[in-house]
Amino acid sequence: MKALSIVVSLLLSLAVHAEPTKHATTKKSLFERLGGQPAITAVVDSFVNTTAVNPKVNFFRDGKYKGLDVVHLKKQVTAFIVQATGGPSEYKGRDMKTAHVGMKITAAEFGAIAGDLAATLDKFKVPKAEKDELMAIAASTQKDIVEVAK
Ligand code: HEM
Repeated sequence: MKALSIVVSLLLSLAVHAEPTKHATTKKSLFERLGGQPAITAVVDSFVNTTAVNPKVNFFRDGKYKGLDVVHLKKQVTAFIVQATGGPSEYKGRDMKTAHVGMKITAAEFGAIAGDLAATLDKFKVPKAEKDELMAIAASTQKDIVEVAK
């Protein structure tokens, strides 16, 4: 009887442990599916170059940020996306609310920057599933970034 209960608990413990392992090996993170650090770095480089000159975004807020270190900004945005997509936790910048407070960013400007991101993902031929997931991550920052609801 004792031997049987040992066998039963061994089998149960195997069943309990087998399931998560199987999932962990089959479901890759969005970070991996996008192509990891090099692919995300390339996408952010192109995206920031595009959106920085889009008047509908007004990234430099009428010149208030004209001295901005764009190379550093690209590194920060890359680290933010790497972390948000399940890559190594390396973002050490400010949270989105603190980083954009007082910029009076409108919903329309946010829509324009989201459009630039979508167009960049299309340019890099990112498949629909991964594009949709990344766009959802970007959309989740809207409540912290937009200060003017027009
Ligand atoms: C119209 C929309 C946006 C505008 C105009 C904008 C503008 C800016 C500016 C000017 C900075 C530099 C702030 C500073 O150095 O003090 C900044 C920082 C940053 N932005 Fe945005 N941004 C927008 C949307 C977004 C979105 C959608 C994301 C991410 C999904 C994002 C991620 C970041 C990050 C990670 C930083 C760096 C923060 C840090 O280094 O502490 N921004 N943004």
